[in-house]
Amino acid sequence: MSQLPLSARPRRNRKSPAIRAWHRETWLSADHFVYPLFIHAGAEDQPIGAMPGCSRLSPDGLLREVEGALEDGVKSVVLFPAEPDSHKSPRGDHAWSPDGLVQSSLRAIKERFPEVVLVTDVALDPYSSDGHDGIVAEDGRILNDQTVAVLCRQAVSQADAGADVIAPSDMMDGRVGSIRRALDSAGYTEVSILSYCAKYASAFYGPFREALDSAPKFGDKATYQMDPANAREALRELELDEAEGADILMVKPALPYLDIIKLLRENTALPIAAYQVSGEYAMIKAAAANGWVTERKVALEALTSIRRAGADVIFTYYARQAARWMAQG
Ligand code: PBG
Repeated sequence: MSQLPLSARPRRNRKSPAIRAWHRETWLSADHFVYPLFIHAGAEDQPIGAMPGCSRLSPDGLLREVEGALEDGVKSVVLFPAEPDSHKSPRGDHAWSPDGLVQSSLRAIKERFPEVVLVTDVALDPYSSDGHDGIVAEDGRILNDQTVAVLCRQAVSQADAGADVIAPSDMMDGRVGSIRRALDSAGYTEVSILSYCAKYASAFYGPFREALDSAPKFGDKATYQMDPANAREALRELELDEAEGADILMVKPALPYLDIIKLLRENTALPIAAYQVSGEYAMIKAAAANGWVTERKVALEALTSIRRAGADVIFTYYARQAARWMAQG
C-alpha cells in the first residue's frame, strides 16, 4: 500500500523519549507540593480508614513525618487538627487558644525544622460543635461577620505560633481583607494569605471529614461554599480576594475543577494553588488496591494535569510518595 500524502505527522515529535522531552510543557516537582498532615493529641498515630497511608499523627509522629517529608524534598506542610468534643463549642473559640494543638505543633516544628514552610487552615470546623466553618445562629444560618471576627483571632494566634502562610478555607465574605488587617496590626506584615478562593461545596471532602470527625451536624455547606455547577462565580471571588490582599489563590477540589484552575490562571497575575482533596486521593487508593489502576502512574498523571491546567502550588496527600516516585525516575 502506498504512503498517504500526509503533510503533518505529529507522531514524528513523539518518536523517542529524548524528542518527547524536547517539547514537554509541564513538569512536576516536589517544590510545588504542600503536604497536608492530620494531627491529634493522642500518644499513638491513628490510621485513617478512608485515606490509606494517612494517619492522625501524635506530636512525636508529626515531627517524624515532617523529617521524612524533608528527606523526600517536600518542604511545606499544612496542619489539620482532630480535636476532642471538649474543645468544640458553638463559637469555636478554641481555634485561637495559644496552647491549641495547631499552635503548639507549629512551635514544635519551627523549633526543630526552621526551614519548613508552615501553612495553616483558618476555619472553625475542627472546633465547631455544629461541624460548620462558621458560627451557627439559632435559626441555623451561618453568621458571616461574627465568624470573621473569630477567624481573625485564629489567624493571629497561628502567626504568633510561627505560621508562614495563613490559608482561610471558610468561604466567609470579607475574611481575606479582615485577616490581612488583623495580621498587619499585630505586626505580621510578612505573613502571607493563601485564600481558598474558589472552594466548592463538594462531596469529595468526605474522607477528610471522617479524619477530623468534623462533618456538619445538620445541613450542608452550600450557603458558603460554591455551587459545583458554577464557573462565573469564581471570577467574582477572585476579584474580591485579590482586592482584599490575597497573595495566592486556591481552587478546590482540583481534578474535577481543572476548568476553574485554568479560568483563574487566565484572569490573575497571582500564583494559583489547587487542592487535590481527600476524595480524589481515596479514589485512586481504592482503585489501586483493587488492582484496577496503576497507582504510581495515575497519581502522577493527575498531579501533572493539575499543573498543566495552571496550578503553581498543589496541596496533595501524595506529596511524599510522588516525590519519591519522581526521584526514582
Ligand atoms: C475545612 C476544610 C475542609 C477541607 C480543607 N479544609 C473540609 C470542608 O470544607 O468541609 C477538605 C480537604 C480534603 O477533603 O482533603 N474548612
